[in-house]
Amino acid sequence: MTAADAVRDQEQRLRAILDTAVEGIITIDERGTIESFNPASERVFGYQAKEVIGKNVKVLMATPHHEQHDGYLANYRHSGHAKIIGIGRETFARKKDGTLFPIDLSVSEVKLSDRRIFTGFIRDITERKRLEKEILEISEREQRRIGQDLHDGLCQHLAGIEMLSQVLAKKLIPKSKATAARATEIAKAVRDAISQTRLLARGLSPVTLESEGLMSALAELALNMEKMFKVECVFDCDNVVKFEDHAAATHLFRIAQEAASNAIKHGQAKRITVSLHEEAAHIRVSVSDDGIGFPKNFSGGTGMGLRIMQTRTNMIGGTLTIERRPRGGTLVSCLVLKNR
Ligand SMILES: Nc1ncnc2c1ncn2[C@@H]1O[C@H](COP(=O)(O)OP(=O)(O)OP(=O)(O)O)[C@@H](O)[C@H]1O
Ligand SMILES: [Mg+2]
Repeated sequence: MTAADAVRDQEQRLRAILDTAVEGIITIDERGTIESFNPASERVFGYQAKEVIGKNVKVLMATPHHEQHDGYLANYRHSGHAKIIGIGRETFARKKDGTLFPIDLSVSEVKLSDRRIFTGFIRDITERKRLEKEILEISEREQRRIGQDLHDGLCQHLAGIEMLSQVLAKKLIPKSKATAARATEIAKAVRDAISQTRLLARGLSPVTLESEGLMSALAELALNMEKMFKVECVFDCDNVVKFEDHAAATHLFRIAQEAASNAIKHGQAKRITVSLHEEAAHIRVSVSDDGIGFPKNFSGGTGMGLRIMQTRTNMIGGTLTIERRPRGGTLVSCLVLKNR
């Protein structure tokens, strides 16, 4: 095989890989001009390769990346600092007909002899996102149902037992004061069980969230945490914060609830602060604890809590941060636009 044949053979192999790949693969030059656009990209974006080759890659992007991408490239050319190369992220892309859709994007840099190009690998994750949303909705519905069943079923049942024990205690007084006292103790134990079940039911089905909004629901969450787990849990909020978006409020409430329960379960916290603040056009819900903090070299763990927090945050277009507090403990915080 001559050298020219070998080069042609190599090119054909590469072309075959690009043509048959399931992922969209797009290459751009240092200025963002599209140089290649494989068939999977054509299917995902609805453009023919010839329609976009030579155009700036930002035509495929949604706000804010559409407006800022030239800046990202310029910044990378000058500083060498990349936010995406080699990392990958979930973001939104724009089809030819203008619809936005969620993608998994990873970008790598290829150094050629005289210049460099960037390769983007794109996977349409619309279906995965739809399923994630559906699972969360189902879980929300189930939690509410269990909460209501506990409240209307078990609580009523226990209330009946409490009554019976009180009647029994009264009847026993003439026979034996000591036995009557035992029956009163049983009635008291049942009353405690009712309070605990009510707290559990309200956690599962936070009615306050619907009737009085996020601010009251978070205040109640803090109160219930104190009662249920015997820790100090304060609610911190300087002004009245009104947040009308009920779906987003539910996600924020569940994020705070999971963070607070993690603070107790894993952090062994003694004091937890749940806070709600307005920051210009955003609102921030945070949960901080004074516990032992995340384990060293933490790599995600097997639990669902943190992952669901991230999914909820993505669903409301927010930003989730989890950090170690300077004086120990953990701070979980979710920032979301007030008017989405
Ligand atoms: N406030 C915290 N303090 C210390 N460690 C934490 C805290 N929050 C989370 N972690 C660590 O992160 C891990 C993962 O938490 P995550 O909520 O995802 O799962 P989990 O609580 O173990 O299970 P699940 O939430 O599914 O019931 C925990 O096992 C723990 O090691
Ligand atoms: Mg958890």
